[in-house]
Amino acid sequence: MADDLIAVKTEIAAKAHVNTDRHRAMTEAAAKDPEGFWREQSGRVAWMKAPTKIKSVDFTGDVSIRWYEDGVLNASVSCLDRHLDTRGDQVAIIWEGDDPNSDVKVTYRDLHARVCRLANGLRELGVKKGDRVCIYLPMIVEAAVAMLACARVGAIHSIVFGGFSADSLASRIQDSECSVLITADEGRRGGRKVPLKTNADDALATCPSIRHVIVAKNTGGSVPMQAGRDVMWDDLCAKQPATCEPEPMGAEDPLFILYTSGSTGKPKGVLHTTGGYMVWASYTHELVFDYRPGEIYWCTADVGWVTGHTYIVYGPLANGATTLMFEGVPNYPSVSRFWEVVDKHQVNIFYTAPTAIRSLMRDGEAPVKKTSRASLRILGSVGEPINPEAWLWYYRVVGDERCPIVDTWWQTETGGILISPLPGAVAQKPGSATLPLPGVFPALVDGEGKVLDGATEGNLVLLDSWPGQMRTIYGDHARFGQTYFSTFKGMYFTGDGARRDKDGYYWITGRVDDVINVSGHRMGTAEIESALVAHPKVAEAAVVGMPHDLKGQGIYCYVTLKSGEEPTDALRKELVAWVRKEIGPIASPDAIQWAPGLPKTRSGKIMRRILRKIAANETDGLGDTSTLADPGVVQELIENRVR
Ligand code: WTA
Repeated sequence: MADDLIAVKTEIAAKAHVNTDRHRAMTEAAAKDPEGFWREQSGRVAWMKAPTKIKSVDFTGDVSIRWYEDGVLNASVSCLDRHLDTRGDQVAIIWEGDDPNSDVKVTYRDLHARVCRLANGLRELGVKKGDRVCIYLPMIVEAAVAMLACARVGAIHSIVFGGFSADSLASRIQDSECSVLITADEGRRGGRKVPLKTNADDALATCPSIRHVIVAKNTGGSVPMQAGRDVMWDDLCAKQPATCEPEPMGAEDPLFILYTSGSTGKPKGVLHTTGGYMVWASYTHELVFDYRPGEIYWCTADVGWVTGHTYIVYGPLANGATTLMFEGVPNYPSVSRFWEVVDKHQVNIFYTAPTAIRSLMRDGEAPVKKTSRASLRILGSVGEPINPEAWLWYYRVVGDERCPIVDTWWQTETGGILISPLPGAVAQKPGSATLPLPGVFPALVDGEGKVLDGATEGNLVLLDSWPGQMRTIYGDHARFGQTYFSTFKGMYFTGDGARRDKDGYYWITGRVDDVINVSGHRMGTAEIESALVAHPKVAEAAVVGMPHDLKGQGIYCYVTLKSGEEPTDALRKELVAWVRKEIGPIASPDAIQWAPGLPKTRSGKIMRRILRKIAANETDGLGDTSTLADPGVVQELIENRVR
C-alpha cells in the first residue's frame, strides 16, 4: 500500500502555481542556469537596491555561502510596507487564543503600526543594527511584532521557545550576548499558565549582557519589575510614532539566530541572513502550499522553532497571506479543537506535525467527523517522518481524500523546505517526502562519501547551496565547517539517513547521529546526559532514543549512580524533575534504567549502538560485543530493561 501512488488531483493542478510540466521546466532551469533562475526568484522580495551578484558559494576550505550579496533590503518592508497599498486592510494575522472564546484579527496596516512602534521603542532603548535581542514569548501576536521590529532596526533576534527552562534561556542569551530580552508576564497553554517573567528573572541572574527587559502584558498576572531594567511593552510603545524608518540591510547581514541541538556539546546558534532567507521563505511557502491570495493559512508550530519563523511569520507575510497563530494545544478544551478552529476561521491550508496527528488518531474519527473542514484544500506535515498509517488517517479522515498532503522535509539549518511534493505537480506516496524542490540537489552517499545512484539507501547530503541555507554558527565558524562539511568533503551533511525508491522518491528514515526527535522537537542526547550528570547522585549517564507510538521517539536514559546511592523510585522521579528543570519539559525522560555499568570499548567509548537496541527491545541482533571491556554488562542491562 505504502508504495502506491496517489495521483495529482486535476482540480488542484488546473489552478496550481506549479503543475507537472512547470515543475519539470523549473527543475531543469534551476539546474542549467542557477544564476538566472535565482535572479528571477529574487524579485519575490522588496529590495532597496536589487542584487547584481547572485551566488557565491564554496563548500570546501573555510566554507563560504553568500547569496545576493550586493543587494540591500529590510525584511520587515517585504512583510509589511509593500502590502499597505494593495492589502492594508486585509487581515495579516488571525490570533486564536488558548481559550476558544478569545481571538483577535490584525490587519497589515495595524501590524505595520505595531511593529513600527516597538521598533522605535527598541531604538529608544539603544538597540542598533547588529545587536542581539532575545525573544522569550508565548504564541501571542507580540511574538510576530517583536520579530519584525527587530528586523526593522537591524537587530538580530534569537527566539527561545517558551517551554525552555531558565537555565536553557540563560545559556542561549549568554552565547550570543543579547542586550535586550522581550518576554511576557505569563504564557497560557491548555488552560495552564507558564511563568515566563519569573523564569526570565531566574535566567538573568547570570546574564550580565542584558540591559533591558520588555514585558508584554498577556495574562495580566502580577510580576516583579526591576526598576531601570524592566519596562512594560505598552508603556514603551504608547508614546512612539506609528512609522519607523527601516534600517537598510545588506543581503548577507544577519536576520536571526536560532539555537538547535546537535550530536555534541551545547546547542548551536544557527545563523540566517536576510536576502536569501527571505527569498527562500517566500518561494517555498508559495510553491509547497500553493498559496493563493485571499486564502487562510494555518501552521500550528510555535515561533520558538524554525517552522514558526519561516511558515508562521516570514514566508506567509512576505506573500501577503493571512496567517493564523494559535496559542493553544490540539486537545484543549477537547480533541476536536484543531478542526473547530479550521471551521471557525475557514482555514484553507493546514500545516502540522505527525506527533499531533498520531495523538488525535487515538481518539478515533468521531471528533474529526463532527466538524465540516470543507474549507480545507491542502494539508502539510513537518518535523519528523510521518508513518504511512498516520499519513493515510490524515488524508482520509481529516482531508476526506480531497486534500493533497505535503510531507515537507527540512531543518533549522536549511531555513525552509527542501524536499516536498508540490500539490499540483507531484503524485504522492504515503510516508514519502517525495522529490526535491526545483533548485535543490540532494544525494545519498555511503560511509565514504561516494554518491550512490538509483534506488538505494544512504546518508542524505546536499551537493550545492540554496538561498535559504544557514551561513554559520554564531561566533564559531570553525564548528560550522566541522559539523556540516567535514564528514563528506564538499557536501552539506544533513545528519539524516534516507532511502530513494525506483521513482526517485525520498523516504527520510531519521537521524543517523546522536540527535533524537521527540514529538518533532530536536534534542541532543549529549545535552540530556550533561543535565543528568549534573545531579549530585549521578556518576554517569547515557541517553538514546527509543521507538514511541505517539512521540515518534522517546527519551531512554541509562543512569549509573555514585557509589552508596540507592536506586529508588523516588530518585527516578527526582531525576525526571531535574531534567525538566535543567532543560525544559520537552526533555522529560520517558524511561530511566539503573545501570551498574555501561557497555564501553576498551578505550572507554560508550557503545550507543547496543544501548539503542536494548531500549528498542531488539536484543536479538546486538551484533559484535567482543570489543567491549566487560561484555557482562550487556546481559545485565537486557534483563533489567524498562518496559
Ligand atoms: C526531521 C524542523 C522526516 C529530520 C523543520 C531533520 C523530518 C530534523 C521531516 C530537523 C520530514 C523534519 N520527514 N523527517 N518531513 N521534517 N524532519 O531542525 O530528522 O527542528 O533533520 O527542523 O527533523 O529538525 P528541525
